[in-house]
Amino acid sequence: MGQLQGKVAIITGSNTGIGKGIAEVFAKEGAKVVINGRRKELIESVAAQIKADGGESLAVPGDVTKEKDVVALFAKTIATWGKVDILVNNAGIATHTPTWEMSLEMWQSVVDINLTAAFLCSREAFRFMKDHGGGRIINIGSISAQTPRPDAAPYTATKMAIEGLTRSLTLDGRRFNIVSSVIHTGPTASNFNAARGGAGKGKTPADFIMFPHDLGRLATLMCTLPEEVNLFSAIILPNHMPSFIGRG
Ligand SMILES: NC(=O)c1ccc[n+]([C@@H]2O[C@H](COP(=O)([O-])OP(=O)(O)OC[C@H]3O[C@@H](n4cnc5c(N)ncnc54)[C@H](OP(=O)(O)O)[C@@H]3O)[C@@H](O)[C@H]2O)c1
Repeated sequence: MGQLQGKVAIITGSNTGIGKGIAEVFAKEGAKVVINGRRKELIESVAAQIKADGGESLAVPGDVTKEKDVVALFAKTIATWGKVDILVNNAGIATHTPTWEMSLEMWQSVVDINLTAAFLCSREAFRFMKDHGGGRIINIGSISAQTPRPDAAPYTATKMAIEGLTRSLTLDGRRFNIVSSVIHTGPTASNFNAARGGAGKGKTPADFIMFPHDLGRLATLMCTLPEEVNLFSAIILPNHMPSFIGRG
């Protein structure tokens, strides 16, 4: 029996990259996983592959920056499986634009997906979980919250803010047994860094890129600790990464 047997998990932005990896690991551990993203065909093919591998999945397309899509995402999940035990706020985008060239629209679009969407989904999760014995919320942050890249002001600001959101959710969830955690991740194979090649080893140890399944294992640990225990914040990164610990 898997470690997440019988649990229902919504993972936002799970048609590629980290979200897909977390969904696949959760499904292998026995969870019923909701695959979400805006690209309908892609979420349907990920959901179908999980089923073909023996797991349970539900494809729910939607833009999680839109309140009505978020409400529909939770409604469809609860109508299908009767509950939500786990929410992973994963959907996000990166930016590579100097501050002085950043339009307000670009800034706002990053805040919408990297921060506001996590609020909207967490609020819907609370609305169900508070009356049904609690649950777990995992927010995907970034090591950029602590060591930013150049030309990434809204990305860095929103990933810092995700830590603050997680602290508030943790406090607000205590009375309902809702436990919130944040994963600050380093380079992981996804659309973000496709130009660097896939996961695994590169030319030097410093080139290593993590597998999305590595984050799936960490998220599984967060969800399977005793209900009184919160692995509140975790930093996961390639061990030889030169630019985060020390000076390289
Ligand atoms: N990969 C890394 O090295 C790295 C490092 C630090 C942090 N992260 C964080 O990890 C998370 C996942 O990123 P990734 O690296 O896996 O990138 P990715 O492969 O580009 O995946 C992003 C996912 O988010 C979805 N998404 C984007 N906007 C959305 C919206 N408005 N509504 C619903 N879904 C939306 C995308 O699907 P659609 O386009 O179909 O909507 C896609 O499934 C992000 O929060 C990112 O900041 C990644």
